[in-house]
Amino acid sequence: MEKKYKKTAAIVLAAGSGSRMSADKTKQMLEIDGKSILKHTLLAFEAAKSISEIVVVCRDGEQNFVNNELQSIGKCSKIVTGGKCRAESASIGFYQISDDIEYIMIHDAARCLITPYEIDLVAEAVYEYKAATASVAVSDTLKRCNGKRIAETVPRKDLRAVQTPQAFERDLYSRALACAPIIDETITDDNMLLENMGISPYCVETLPSNIKITTSYDLEFAEFILLKRKGEI
Ligand code: CTP
Ligand code: MG
Repeated sequence: MEKKYKKTAAIVLAAGSGSRMSADKTKQMLEIDGKSILKHTLLAFEAAKSISEIVVVCRDGEQNFVNNELQSIGKCSKIVTGGKCRAESASIGFYQISDDIEYIMIHDAARCLITPYEIDLVAEAVYEYKAATASVAVSDTLKRCNGKRIAETVPRKDLRAVQTPQAFERDLYSRALACAPIIDETITDDNMLLENMGISPYCVETLPSNIKITTSYDLEFAEFILLKRKGEI
C-alpha cells in the first residue's frame, strides 16, 4: 500500500563559505561525479516521496548558481539569502515555507550523500515523535583529552553522532525558535533549540555514508560512494 505522507518542507542550507575545504569555490559549488554538491542534495529531496516543497538558503552572490542548479527541481518554491551562521540560515529558511506545511526538515546541503530512503525514514519518525533526527551510533572509542594527551575514556554506549536531516512539527519548531535565547554559532544543530525547551528529538538510524563534506578527503569518499551506487565501480 502507498504510504501517506504529510505536507513537509525541506529547508536546504547552502549559505556557508566552506572555509575548512580551502577551495577556490564554496562547498555547495564543488562538483562530484559531474554535479555540484548542492545538485546532488537537491536531487535526493526532489526524489523523496515525503517532501512536498524545498526552500534553498543560499549565500549572497550565489543566487545565479543556485537558479541554474534548480533546473529539474520542480519542488523548489523559494530561494532565500542566508545569515551569518548556520542557525540563522535555518531560521531564515523556516520563515519562507508555505502556509499549508505541517512539518519541516532542515538539511545541510553539504551532506550530499543523503538518500530519498533516509529522508522518508526521518519523515515517518517525525509524524510519530514531533522531532526526529538522522543519526548514527558512534563506533570509535572516544577520549576526552588535555591538548594531545588522553585524560579519560568517554563511555560510548549512549552516544550518537547526529546528522541531518532534522525534522520537526512546524508549530513546535516555531515555538523553539521563539524560545531560543540567542541564535548564533553556538547553536550547532537544530535539535539544540528543542533540547532547550526540554524536548528530546527521536534518533533515526541513518547511514554512516551520510557524511558532511568538510575537507578534500571527504570529496574522494563521496565520489567513491556515488560511483558505487551507480554500479560504475
Ligand atoms: N551554512 C549556512 N549558512 C551559514 C553557514 C553554514 O547555510 N551561515 C550551511 C552550509 O552551507 C552547510 C551547512 O550549513 O551546508 C553545514 O555547515 P558547514 O559544513 O560548517 O559548512 P560551511 O560553513 O560552508 O563550512 P566551514 O565551516 O568549513 O566554513
Ligand atoms: Mg560552518
